[in-house]
Formats: sequence, structure tokens, C-alpha cells
Amino acid sequence: MNDWGQSFQSPGQDSVSTLPRGRSPELNYLETSRFTHRCSSSPALIFPATDETILRAASFLADGQLVGLPTETVYGLAANAWDAAAVRKIFVAKSRPPNNPLIVHVASIERLCDAIQWPPTEIVQRQLDAIVDLWPGPLTVVCERSQRIPNEVTAGSLLVAVRIPAHDVALALLDACDFPIAAPSANRSKYISPTQPDHLFGAAGISEHIAMVLDGGPCRWGVESTIIKLGDANPTLLRPGAISHRELAGRFGIEPDSMLMTGGVNEGTLLAPGMMREHYSPTSPLVLIDGNHDAGLSLPQPQRGRIGRIAFAPIAAQDAVSYAVVETLSSTGDLEEISHRLFAAMRRLDDLHLDAIHCDTCSLAGLGHAIMDRLRRAAARTENLD
Ligand code: TXA
Ligand code: MG
Repeated sequence: MNDWGQSFQSPGQDSVSTLPRGRSPELNYLETSRFTHRCSSSPALIFPATDETILRAASFLADGQLVGLPTETVYGLAANAWDAAAVRKIFVAKSRPPNNPLIVHVASIERLCDAIQWPPTEIVQRQLDAIVDLWPGPLTVVCERSQRIPNEVTAGSLLVAVRIPAHDVALALLDACDFPIAAPSANRSKYISPTQPDHLFGAAGISEHIAMVLDGGPCRWGVESTIIKLGDANPTLLRPGAISHRELAGRFGIEPDSMLMTGGVNEGTLLAPGMMREHYSPTSPLVLIDGNHDAGLSLPQPQRGRIGRIAFAPIAAQDAVSYAVVETLSSTGDLEEISHRLFAAMRRLDDLHLDAIHCDTCSLAGLGHAIMDRLRRAAARTENLD
């Protein structure tokens, strides 16, 4: 067993930096009045992430308010995970069904105990040992929750989802808080996840519900974290992300396919209640185009009207002319570039109120698994029209 498990200190046993509740004297220059009336009517303010604004964000969280938080995957809508009233505000802001639980973020391995049952069961400990060096990173694990995590976070489940984000601003904010942070993606329920701070604003945004947004630039990965459930002999993949289930299976010493859920995530027993078939949807119908690989899709029928195209690599001029606008995500079809830019491109095209958006597809290898998972959900409404 690695020794990280033994360095545990229970919550409240010092070692974590703590912020005084309410205003801190060194933040006086930030004119509290500009912030405190922020919620409900006026738009939230975006701040470059500095030591001062990170402390201010921590102070808002300690006061039970919501903050827009950059991570390496997507922007999160952050609240104090130990504060049930604050967590309920997340569900209101997103119009999120209360049965869809939230991911809890912690600053370090030592602070996993703020979110999960400690010590973990032997099997969870062993499985954590196998993946712990992937943190900070785009990996979320689901296992037994700490008693300090309220029902609101887990939708009543005794299991909690937890991760350590690999983003300097997120880690600095977590360090400045003496509580873990619950944060779903900062989009309205079912809309496209935000990958840059301005995505939290506008008609599709949630800015009127939040005290401030920390600007950490565009998110590196652009797709949400990989989620796995621990505790059984074979951990289960609940959501594909930047860390592939093949990589994880290798670490667990199991067959990759044994991590995949059979029977689809929408039917029957939902392990990850948020993994509804229809999700991440732009308002314009999204139509997926077969790129001659294993996605099993065909070319869309010719359509009338203004059509936009998301191309994973440059397309021929004679193909481009039939579109009102073409967004090319990569000059080489590079999957990291594609995932990094995909959601922003979907949002830009959606803002044009097109009659349809045609989007390329890719093979399911590596990051392609996560990209195709999101695209299939985004297109589900369109498929349902048939
Ligand atoms: O990359 C990410 O994971 C981002 C950033 C902000 O960390 N967060 C994110 O959260 O994508 P959200 O709420 O948009 O998606 C979380 C997913 C949902 O599908 C939810 O159902 C699942 O995680 N989930 C959360 N807690 C769970 C639990 N206790 N058991 C099973 N699934 C859970
Ligand atoms: Mg989400």
C-alpha cells in the first residue's frame, strides 16, 4: 500500500489553510458593495485569477455563495460542499434535477477524507493506490461518502464523486478554503458545458446566480472528467473523458471491456444519473457526419436552410460552399485540439440560430471515446425526430 493513505488528518485537524468567514481585511480595496448585490439581478463579474481574487472567491464560498471556477476540463459552478443551502443554489442556478448528484473537488490526496469515507474499504484503498498518481487530473472516482457530505450533493446516495482538478486556479482556490468544493459544469442543465469564462454569461448562462467568475483562460481538455465507480472487483466506467478506460484498466490489471456498462446508461439502473442520452445539446439540431470509421453514421440528407459545419480537419472548398459557416477545429485532425475547441465551436454556431449544425465524427480510440460520447448525446434530440 502507498503511504499516502497514512498521512490522513481528519477534517478540522489543522494542516489545511483556513480563511476567516466573511470579509478579510486585506481585501478591503475590492469594495465589497460591488460584489454583495451581485446575485439575482446584476451580472457576475469576471476577474483575472490573482492571489486577491482567489481569496475573495474563497470568502464568497465560505459565505454560501456560488463562484465560477476554471478547471482543466470545463468551468465549474462552485459551492461549499459541506453547506447544504449553498449546494441547493447550484440546482436552482442550473435548473438541474435534484436527483443528479454533484462532483466534489478537493485540493490534495490528504484532503480526500473531506469527501470520502475514511479510511476507505480495503478494495477502494487498493483501487485508489492504482490511480492516485493521475491526480491532479481529469479523473473522478465514485466511492462511499464522508458523513460530512450532505444528501444534497449526492442526491441521497451513500456514494460520492470526487476529484482533484489539475488547474492552478482551482487548486489555489481549494487551498484557500477549509471545505471541499462541489462543482458541476457551469451550464444550464442539458446545455453545452462552458470551456471559457464568457460561456457563463448571456441568455444561456447562469451568471445572475453567481457572485464572481475566476478567469483561468480556456480549459485545456474541453471535455468533462472521466468518471469511474470504485469498490467492485472491476471498477465501472460511468463517463469517458481524457483519461481512457484502457489506461485505467491497465492499472487495475483488468480487461478494458470489463469496465464498460452493458445495456446503455439511460435504461434501468442509472449509475451516473447525469448521463442522460440527451445532453450537451445546442438549440439548433445537430447532425453527425460519418468520417468513414467505426461511428456507424451516414451522411445527412441534403437539407435546405442555413447550415453550419463543424469540421475536425480542413474540408474541400467544394464541400464548404454549401455551408453558411464552417468551423475547422484542427489543421491535422488532432483529437486534443478537437476536444479543446469543440464546445466553444458548438456554442458559436448555436448563437447564429442556424437551421442545423453538421458535425464531423471520429473513431472511438483514446480521447475519441469522450468526444463521440458528448456528440451522440448532443445529437440525441435530432435522432429522436426520426
Ligand atoms: O470535469 C468535470 O467533471 C467537471 C468539472 C467542473 O470538474 N464537472 C462535471 O460535473 O462535469 P457535472 O455535474 O456536469 O457532471 C457530473 C456527473 C453527472 O453525470 C453525475 O450524475 C455524476 O457525475 N455523478 C456525480 N456524483 C455521482 C455519484 N455519487 N454517483 C454516480 N454518479 C455521480
Ligand atoms: Mg455537466
